[in-house]
Amino acid sequence: MSDQRPIGVLDSGLGGLTVVKEVIRQLPNENVIFIGDEARMPYGVKTHEQIISYTREMVQYLISQNVKLIIYGCNTATANALLQLRKEFTVPMLGVIQPGSTQASKITKTDHVGIIGTESTINSKSYDKTIAAIDPKIKVLGIAAQKFVALVEGDKADSDEAKKNIETTLRPFKDSNYDTLILGCTHFPMLKKQINNYLPETKLVDPAVSTVETAKEYLFKNDLLTDSQTRTLKLHATAGIDEFAKLAKRWLKTDIDEISLVNIGG
Ligand code: DGL
Repeated sequence: MSDQRPIGVLDSGLGGLTVVKEVIRQLPNENVIFIGDEARMPYGVKTHEQIISYTREMVQYLISQNVKLIIYGCNTATANALLQLRKEFTVPMLGVIQPGSTQASKITKTDHVGIIGTESTINSKSYDKTIAAIDPKIKVLGIAAQKFVALVEGDKADSDEAKKNIETTLRPFKDSNYDTLILGCTHFPMLKKQINNYLPETKLVDPAVSTVETAKEYLFKNDLLTDSQTRTLKLHATAGIDEFAKLAKRWLKTDIDEISLVNIGG
């Protein structure tokens, strides 16, 4: 059996492309369709209800594209909407928080794990609860780094402004017991080099890696992998398509079959 239907990936914006890149690396023959809700981002400062409602519209869009699995390439959507939307739709859906927490719990030697994410993700305490369920010994410190999202979206990763913001925001992790830091927002791997420059001793965890491993295992077990030797990659955004296309091409460095604007919701 072979299932050629695409894997859907969603995010509020560009960040989900870090998950798309990982899908391409681990599942190079799978068709992929991505949607980034640039029109309404950032999600990290929205209410729980708004995040559920916007994510629902992206899920509906991806279902209309006949996806076989939806990966939430967004921690904020995972923290706020995944449990609710799993009750509403039958399409399989995977988030980044459980796999990211498992990965970090295995890596830490000091039993101290830092989390950086959007305001909403940090306030939700989703990582804290998930890690506590895996290993209650592990001490967790979550810090909101909402500004990092704007730095990535504004193509300012290499700026002085980014350097200063990283230093101020991540100071509590400097020379601390926190040997492992979860990049708990999918935009943040786009600042990995800069974060690593400031915290060279800290192990940075990108949850995309273990999330896509989980997705691969799920597709394999359920006989849903494709046997095709070629793939199609389609990227959609709900606004700002030119800037989105420029940054997407630069980040993914691969053949993209389509980049276009779509309208969802009202
Ligand atoms: N990339 C998203 C995340 O992983 C959200 C960024 C935002 O829209 O605030 O949480």
